[in-house]
Amino acid sequence: MEKIDLKTIKKRSENEFKKAVDLKELDEIFKKYLGKKGEITQILKTLSKLPNERRAKIGKGINELKNFLEEKIEDKKSYFTKATEDKEEWLDITAPGKKPVVGHLHPLTLIKRRIEEIFQAMGFSVVEGPEVETEWYNFDALNIQKDHPARDFWDTLYLKGGNLLRTHTSPVQIRFMEKNEPPFRIIVPGRVFRHEATDAKHEVNFYQVEGLMVGKDVSVANFKAVIQEFLNRFYQKEIKLRLRPSFFPFTEPSFEIDINCIVCGGKGCSTCLGQGWIELMGAGMVHPNVLKNSGLDPRNWQGFAFGMGLDRLAMMKYKINDIRLFYSGDLRFLQQF
Ligand code: DAH
Repeated sequence: MEKIDLKTIKKRSENEFKKAVDLKELDEIFKKYLGKKGEITQILKTLSKLPNERRAKIGKGINELKNFLEEKIEDKKSYFTKATEDKEEWLDITAPGKKPVVGHLHPLTLIKRRIEEIFQAMGFSVVEGPEVETEWYNFDALNIQKDHPARDFWDTLYLKGGNLLRTHTSPVQIRFMEKNEPPFRIIVPGRVFRHEATDAKHEVNFYQVEGLMVGKDVSVANFKAVIQEFLNRFYQKEIKLRLRPSFFPFTEPSFEIDINCIVCGGKGCSTCLGQGWIELMGAGMVHPNVLKNSGLDPRNWQGFAFGMGLDRLAMMKYKINDIRLFYSGDLRFLQQF
């Protein structure tokens, strides 16, 4: 029987597990000494073959070594386990932060907010109305006769039951005047709908901004001053505008407002189709019938109203040539704002 040198085994094994850096290595060392075929396990198996005296001596030593190693391994094992747990909860507060992906406002929302800001600074309140309207508010109350072409089925999206999707923001004029005593000034931004074939300039759904100012002596001169101020601030430069006679059932007199083309400055280009002028909005003095239909006496009150396309204002400000881009959801377009 070869000599069993317990001291050497102890030293060697102790050295090995001191060097162990993780649970896996520790496990391997355990197997090497204390596993089924481990060195110490093997010695324990041969004990019975030894003469009595030696058996007692070696037996004691080997059992001590076994206990010693088991304890050491257990200690180091719990140390590793704890270290991994701690690591999971550890937070490096000096590491650079991860930038969260945040969205941004849609160009039409940006334009809407800017318009609201400018009018609010001039004392206008921002008012809203329903997108589903009755024929009364969308047409009749606005003095649009039953035989007016705007009531033609092809322009309006009718709903089952007789209501419709509003074709303009003008019905909110009536809704507001029914409930409020003049003097007042409001703007009404909102979504409107038309039964139309779409192209670069037309969508079935777009946005308008309605304006209404009523008082004892509100005049066309007041309208011109307000709109001039609005346009200068909106485009951040002096804008040349002109009033052209026009017709709307809900205003008398009515006019169309043109501005000097933003793109070419009036020389004539593809945006203004060589005209030098761009049609921007409809406006006029509120028709006496409209005041009457809202419960106001036209002998006491007068005012102006206007309606402009929000999409069109945005298209000119950002030089966008197709209205459909606003509604396409195309990120290549949207991320430019
Ligand atoms: N509602 C008209 C449209 O959709 C625009 C408009 C014209 C509104 C003249 C007005 C106005 O308030 O006075 O085409």
